[in-house]
Amino acid sequence: MKKLIAGNWKMNGSLAANETLIQGLLAGLANSAPSCDIALCVPSVYIAQVQSLLADSNAIAVGSQNVSQHENGAYTGDVSAEMLAEVGVRYSLCGHSERRQHQAENDTHVAIKAQRALMAGITPIVCVGETLSEREAEMAEVVVKRQLAAVIRLLGSSIDKIIVAYEPVWAIGTGRTATPEQAQQMHAVLRAQLQSATENADKIRLLYGGSMNAGNAAELLAQPDINGGLVGGASLKSADFLAIIAAAR
Ligand code: PGA
Repeated sequence: MKKLIAGNWKMNGSLAANETLIQGLLAGLANSAPSCDIALCVPSVYIAQVQSLLADSNAIAVGSQNVSQHENGAYTGDVSAEMLAEVGVRYSLCGHSERRQHQAENDTHVAIKAQRALMAGITPIVCVGETLSEREAEMAEVVVKRQLAAVIRLLGSSIDKIIVAYEPVWAIGTGRTATPEQAQQMHAVLRAQLQSATENADKIRLLYGGSMNAGNAAELLAQPDINGGLVGGASLKSADFLAIIAAAR
């Protein structure tokens, strides 16, 4: 299965910094064609700029970091799936742990977001992952399965159209990565859960996220159930992101 390397810029960037970063990426990709799919999930205000910087290249798709669970109307500050699709967004992160934590998104919201994205023709990247205290309490699998179950319940047979990102919260932005064994073990759990929901589970891409970088990407991406990466900090430097792309074969 073709891997996906998705950058998550989070709330970083500026017109000038974005341009430098994209130019660096395009220059690097001009030298060697990537063997994986690539996406950049950028702040909504920069979607148009990034689309236009990428206009001559079809190697990189643009994604959003969130999508409203509402269709349209009186939801000040929200951006709908239809709006994102209209401007060419191909992927939307749904339920990133930072939004679950700071914006009180729960499993139900996340499932509805994924459904809205799909209905608009956008591929949802549904993020799941346990906190450190949940892992220490040996609740990691229970939590992650609960998070995915809510999406399976709502989407039914359309579950095979999503991407899942396993991001242990304790590994995000901390420099502390899950070991390849820890990541593979959880990915296998997620794969098995998907297998009981769809016969196409083997075609669903499962991304790992949490301090993935140029040094650890190859080993993580070599695991049988890791089909790509969701990359935060290391997606902000073109050399680092290009090295991760090169590691995704
Ligand atoms: P990180 O972030 O790579 O900086 O740990 C990953 C993410 O939050 O998606």
